[in-house]
Amino acid sequence: CTKFLTLNNGEKMPVIGIGTWQASDEEIETAVDLALEAGYRHIDTAPVYGNEKAIGRVLKRWLDEGKVKREDLYIVTKLPPIANRPHEVEPTIRASLSDLQLDYVDMYLIHTPFTVFINEDGSFQFDAEGRVKVDKSTNHIATWAEMEKLVESGLAKSIGVSNFSKEQVARLLNNCKIRPANNQIEHHVYLQQRDLVDYCKAENVAITAYSPLGSKGIAKFNEAAGLVRELPDLMDIEEVKEIATAHGKTPAQVLLRWIIDNDLVAIPKSTNAVRLKQNLDVFDFELSAEEVEKLSAMDKNIRICDFSFFRGVEQHPEFTFKNQFTD
Ligand code: A2P
Repeated sequence: CTKFLTLNNGEKMPVIGIGTWQASDEEIETAVDLALEAGYRHIDTAPVYGNEKAIGRVLKRWLDEGKVKREDLYIVTKLPPIANRPHEVEPTIRASLSDLQLDYVDMYLIHTPFTVFINEDGSFQFDAEGRVKVDKSTNHIATWAEMEKLVESGLAKSIGVSNFSKEQVARLLNNCKIRPANNQIEHHVYLQQRDLVDYCKAENVAITAYSPLGSKGIAKFNEAAGLVRELPDLMDIEEVKEIATAHGKTPAQVLLRWIIDNDLVAIPKSTNAVRLKQNLDVFDFELSAEEVEKLSAMDKNIRICDFSFFRGVEQHPEFTFKNQFTD
């Protein structure tokens, strides 16, 4: 992807990246390979997705063969909710770097505003009702001070947050040496979070839109957690399809172009060669002002990833996600 968003520290982030949640090691190795062939340079991962080693193998191959230069890659990974504590920041990024076979990441994000406990074997701790045990001692400001050290030591070029609310971002902005460069949040036509997006933009905190296509893959997590959810199919919205037809593009391309035109970054996930290419091929058409207005008027405040498949996290004091299906 040759289009970039300049961050508040001058670093440049490609506006389209490949999302890698919900894919097996084998799928992701093929997908990242195909993505790099197609021209993706921005790869979004996290230890929670369980695929950093697989991604690392592909990156190593590409770098060793001289097919890509490290400085042309943009690799994002995250501090997981099991390690969202100040003393775990450095060892956790070092473990990710080792798995990714890299010396630094381009962006390191605090993955969630909440923290959970695990056992020594890495499994989650549950209470008698089967809810995950939350660690209420989370202190964003103290954790952020450790994140800042990663920039100073060169382990991360930029640092940011993910799934943070406006109030949580504001708290960091008021208590930091290095301002967060990025907030990665769920964002698509049905969940536009305008207040949060406008605030972050005004404060020069770049927004990355996850689940830009509606994250159909989340269904399996919901099912595994016994949740019955009728999720919307964004690519099947009549008006989106009409706009796509008018431009000879696909609904996915319209949804992505609308996000980029709003100066946000999008990280669509795909493991399919054709769709991967399609999701990067969004720069040869323009949405009219009227079409943008139509898409922007679709907001329904429908959160697809409300973490309810992760039963118990709602007890954490920093948990802010409303579950519109049951609340
Ligand atoms: P697949 O991996 O088989 O392509 P999100 O990025 O919002 O999480 O959405 C990802 C989901 O959308 C995945 O199920 C993915 O399936 C599918 N998807 C990704 N790109 C496209 C596309 N261009 N057209 C249709 N479906 C897509």
